[in-house]
Amino acid sequence: MIEPFDVVDLIRAKRDGGELTSPQIGWLVDAYTRGVVAEEQMSAWAMAVFLRGMAPREIRDLTFAMVESGERMSFAGLGRPTTDKHSTGGVGDKITLPLAPLVASFGVAVPQLSGRGLGHTGGTLDKLESIPGWRARLSNEEFLDQLRDVGAVIAAAGSGLAPADGRLYALRDITGTVECIPLIASSIMSKKIAEGTASLVLDVKFGSGAFLRDPEAGRALAETMVRLGRDAGVGTVALLTNMQTPLGRAIGNANEVRESVEVLAGGGPEDVVELTVALAREMLALAGQPDADVAGHLRGGQAMDVWRRMIAAQGGDPDAPLPVPRESETVVADRAGVLVDLPALPFGIAAWRLGAGRARKEDPVAHAAGIDLHVRIGDRVSAGQPLYTLHADDPARFARAHEALDGALRIGADGDPVHDGGPLVLDRIA
Ligand code: URA
Repeated sequence: MIEPFDVVDLIRAKRDGGELTSPQIGWLVDAYTRGVVAEEQMSAWAMAVFLRGMAPREIRDLTFAMVESGERMSFAGLGRPTTDKHSTGGVGDKITLPLAPLVASFGVAVPQLSGRGLGHTGGTLDKLESIPGWRARLSNEEFLDQLRDVGAVIAAAGSGLAPADGRLYALRDITGTVECIPLIASSIMSKKIAEGTASLVLDVKFGSGAFLRDPEAGRALAETMVRLGRDAGVGTVALLTNMQTPLGRAIGNANEVRESVEVLAGGGPEDVVELTVALAREMLALAGQPDADVAGHLRGGQAMDVWRRMIAAQGGDPDAPLPVPRESETVVADRAGVLVDLPALPFGIAAWRLGAGRARKEDPVAHAAGIDLHVRIGDRVSAGQPLYTLHADDPARFARAHEALDGALRIGADGDPVHDGGPLVLDRIA
C-alpha cells in the first residue's frame, strides 16, 4: 500500500507550530495503529504537540480517529437512559463506588468502564478487587445483562475500545508527554465516546493531587472535553473540583471500599458525600431527572440495595470481611495547633509506596495497604493526638512512606492561612 503522507513531514509541521489537516491526523492514527509509524516517530510527534499545542479542530480529529481505531459499544436497545462519569483522578477518590449504584437507584443505567491505578492515583478496579470474589472482567454480554438487570456495572475496559489511545497513552507515560491538555482530552473522550454512553459528567480535578495543579488549566481541560462530548452527540457537563487535600479519610483500596459503604449507608465524610451528591445530580439531570432526591436515596438505603446487587452480580460477597493489613504505624502531632497544610500528593505517593498502587501495569497491589487520616485540614489538634495511620503488609515499606510524608503535614497557629485550595466544587462547565 502506498501511504498518502510521510510521517516526518507531519512531525516537522507540528514541531514548527503548524496545523495538521483532518486527513493527515486520520492517517497518522491509523498508520500508528498499523505499525507503519514507529514508536519513536509517534513520541516525537507527541512531544511536538506537548510543546506547540493543537487547534480545537485538530483535537476533534485526533479524538474521532482514536474512536475509529476500535469498536464502539451501543446501549440503544436497553430501553433506558445511560449516563457515565469520569474523574481525571486524585488521592482518596473513591466517588465512583457510591455514585454508580446511587444513580442507578433512580432507574438510569450506569455503564462504567474503569481502569487500574498507575502512579499515585488509585484505580477503581483495584479498590473493588479488595472485595472477596469480585471480578472486573466481563464479556460484552455479561456487561449488557447486568446493566439491564441491576442498572450499574463497574468493569474493566476491554482492549477493543480506542486501542490507538491505549498505545499512545503508554507511550506518553514513558516520554514525559502526559500533562498536555489536547492529549489528555482526546485520550479520555475517545474512550468515553467509544463506550457509547448517552451522557457524561466529568470530574476535572485541580490541586496538589491532580494531573493539573492550576484551576485555570483544569478549566481549559474541562472546556475542551465538554466541547468534544458535544461534537460527538454525548450530553457532557464538567465539574471543576478541588484535589488540594485528599478526599475523605481513607487512601488505599480496602479502606476506600469501607468508606464508600459508609456513604452508601447514609454516613461517611462530608466531602465524599458532597461530591457524590453533586455528581449524581448532574448525571440524573442529563438523564432527564433534574429533581431527583439524591441525598434521600443514600439515607433511605436504595443506593445500598443496588450496591449489594452490583457487587454480587460480579461474584463479590458484599458481606465478606475486607482484607486487613498485617502491620500499621500511627503518626501523632508533635505539638498543638491548627492543621494548615495536608497536601494530597505526598499522601498519594506514600500510599503507593506502602503497596496500595503499582509502579508497572503488571504489578499486583496490596489491597489492605494505605493510609487512614484521623484529622482533616483546618482541624485543631493537641500534642500527641493521632494524625494518620499507615498500613502495609510488608513493614519494610514504612520507611519510604514516612519519607514521602516528611514535612508535608503542617501544624500552624490560630489565624495562619489554611491551604485547603478553596471550595470543593469550584465551577460547573456545560
Ligand atoms: N486518563 C486518560 O485516560 N488519559 C490521559 O491522558 C490522562 C488521564
